[in-house]
Amino acid sequence: MKKLYLLVVVLMIAPLLLAGCGGSSAEKAGTGKLEIFSWWTAGGEADGLAEMIKLYRAKYPDVEFINATVAGGAGSNAKAVLATRMGADDPPDSFQVHAGHELIDSWVKADKMEPVTSIFKDNGWMDKYPKGVIDILTYNGEIWSVPVNIHRSNVLWYNTKVFADNGLTVPTSFDEFFDVANRLIAADITPIALGDNGIWTATHLFESVLLGTMGPEKYKGLWTGTTDWNGADVKAALENMVKILSYVNTDHAALSWDQAAQLVIDGNAAMTIMGDWAEGYFKSKGLTPNNEFGYVPSPGTSGNFIMLSDSFTLPKGAKDHANAVAWLTLCGSKEGQDAFNPLKGSIPARTDGDRALYDVYLQSAMDDFNSNTIVPSLAHGAAASEGWVTAFNDIMTLFVTNQDVAAAQTAMAKACVDAGVCK
Ligand code: GAL
Repeated sequence: MKKLYLLVVVLMIAPLLLAGCGGSSAEKAGTGKLEIFSWWTAGGEADGLAEMIKLYRAKYPDVEFINATVAGGAGSNAKAVLATRMGADDPPDSFQVHAGHELIDSWVKADKMEPVTSIFKDNGWMDKYPKGVIDILTYNGEIWSVPVNIHRSNVLWYNTKVFADNGLTVPTSFDEFFDVANRLIAADITPIALGDNGIWTATHLFESVLLGTMGPEKYKGLWTGTTDWNGADVKAALENMVKILSYVNTDHAALSWDQAAQLVIDGNAAMTIMGDWAEGYFKSKGLTPNNEFGYVPSPGTSGNFIMLSDSFTLPKGAKDHANAVAWLTLCGSKEGQDAFNPLKGSIPARTDGDRALYDVYLQSAMDDFNSNTIVPSLAHGAAASEGWVTAFNDIMTLFVTNQDVAAAQTAMAKACVDAGVCK
């Protein structure tokens, strides 16, 4: 009788033990649910995700796929919802997060994540990703998320017809940019579209301005404490930013990033500076690169590539662990990345993507990623911790309104100290 009782107890707790161990080979994907959390709701980004979901469903038709999205570019709303869920020990099975500081300095250090190193090793991925990308994903000897892409932040997109009709040459320096902007004003066209109803877009624009003003070495030093936030370069960047803001659409505070991109599509604005998810958006509206829209590195940044990477994670306590591992396996695969990225407007994080599947813009991004100086994005979690980015966004909210260079510079210097990076 006692033996039978023991057997029943063992049978009852065995599945719990297996789930607790995480990644056990006894787990099998293919039944139950899978909840994937992201902020990809706009044209292009949602299409890329849908393509990966299609692949997952084909492989695991019996899994109920829950595509949990919270609208708001750069995770401006999603991150708060995620924080509430993580706090309540109710994590999604896998969530989108920027590779690097955004994940490591928050959820990894808070001991809320499971490492995914074994997924990399089991699938033979260690030499399928650039070493620099693996380094960004690694902390304390473990890899913490599976990247799906590489995005470029510093791109100036323009309406080719507006440029041709007005006899304009695409600007590559700040001087050329301001010259073109003045001509556009004279032609009664908004020079540059901004949609900062999520303030991250102003931070996004400013990171390009910082890089274009001071160059890659000093830009990198901003995030490691070797470039002085109180110095002349930051001041010059803020002054360039003030000038650029005088050329943006008056309703910028009411628009989202994709609504700003739409102004360019409609010819109501000539240019916008946005990450290459804007390419995904343009294509979702039926446009093609070098036809209706063109692209160059934002002023002063040619030869430099501000990078960021979207990745997916394995939170501790994920309810559908095996299905989540299967999702991550798809995210990191060549097949998954080649389905996702051509629509998303990004390039694979892997080195073996099938180039033929990518359009002319994305092929140029692949070439630039291999040959340019790579620097990290602030607005998208690669350069600094989430707390620092939030402080920076708060500074930008004030700055866009009052355009007080001295006050913004002092606040930025303090934010670096508060982040524990500057003395
Ligand atoms: C970025 C993200 C991109 C894109 C963009 C706009 O933070 O890395 O994949 O989604 O936000 O939503």
